[in-house]
Amino acid sequence: MKKLKFRNGDTLDAIGLGTWKSEKGKVTEAVKIALNNGYRHIDCAATYGNEAEVGEAFEEVFKEGKVKREEVWVTSKLWNNAHKKEDVIPALKQTLKDLKLDYLDLYLIHWPVAFKPEVDGFPEGPGDYLSLEEAPLIETWNEMLKAKEQGLVKHIGVSNFSIPKLKELMAETDFTPEMNQVELHPYLQQNKLLEFCSKNGINVTAYSPLGSGDRPDAMKAADEPSLLENPTINKIAKKHGASAGQILIKWSEQRETGVIPKSTNEKRIIENLQSAGYQLDEDDMKQIAELDYHFRYVTGKFFEVEGNSYHNIYDD
Ligand code: A2P
Repeated sequence: MKKLKFRNGDTLDAIGLGTWKSEKGKVTEAVKIALNNGYRHIDCAATYGNEAEVGEAFEEVFKEGKVKREEVWVTSKLWNNAHKKEDVIPALKQTLKDLKLDYLDLYLIHWPVAFKPEVDGFPEGPGDYLSLEEAPLIETWNEMLKAKEQGLVKHIGVSNFSIPKLKELMAETDFTPEMNQVELHPYLQQNKLLEFCSKNGINVTAYSPLGSGDRPDAMKAADEPSLLENPTINKIAKKHGASAGQILIKWSEQRETGVIPKSTNEKRIIENLQSAGYQLDEDDMKQIAELDYHFRYVTGKFFEVEGNSYHNIYDD
């Protein structure tokens, strides 16, 4: 499997297990299956509401001793209600407590969007937001740096940042984010963002690589296209004797981005890691390149509320 290389030489297995939407009752078993079958990269976030259950898997697996903590890369993300200076490290410490770990490998600012600290879950109206003037991203970032200095996290980065947002942050700091985790799949290939990140030493991880069909209906457009049912993807899958999911995962891995398919199903968890064993040829890559419809499943529109300052989050 390809590995992502960080600026200090650390490496990360490209394929990881996603845990967004993984139910509390299923995620402990899913993470245990993943770790016991070769996954060494687990992607978490406070807002997924299941870090304590993910932590149970870490505790059990590390106690068994077959897989050691230092062999696994654990990513988590700071939620939007903890952007204020004084809230960043306490939020990180809560995540560490839930995950039953004493450090993270990577901590990301989840969105370039801030909520008032008392907002638990999702805002109910424009008054629940803080503007970026009230909660400047650079102040949040400087706390992330402090967390790194304190050894609570090894690497720091961002998620859902557009090129302009990255540029703004980079203009204000000497420490460029090490990762940008964004939606990325054949319908949203993000070539400009990839090029910008590559030039600036920022790794990229692809979320929703399979189209996140298990999102809540409120987050779905009525007529959204299916990635897993795309005829080109399925034709290529048939040619390689792979599943459509495996082709989608392999495509990201082959382009040297991280990729974090979510599954709580044993067969699919194992199948997804095995994607690394296929090889897409030039013709496959060319056909997939033609599917770039600039289609987003996770539009960010849910943060664009009349009366708040968040509009056109992706600047596109
Ligand atoms: P399940 O958890 O039952 O396996 P994404 O990673 O883009 O958010 O997509 C997650 C969705 O894709 C979930 O509904 C998950 O269901 C499903 N899924 C995961 N792996 C595969 C696969 N290899 N083939 C088809 N569907 C998959």
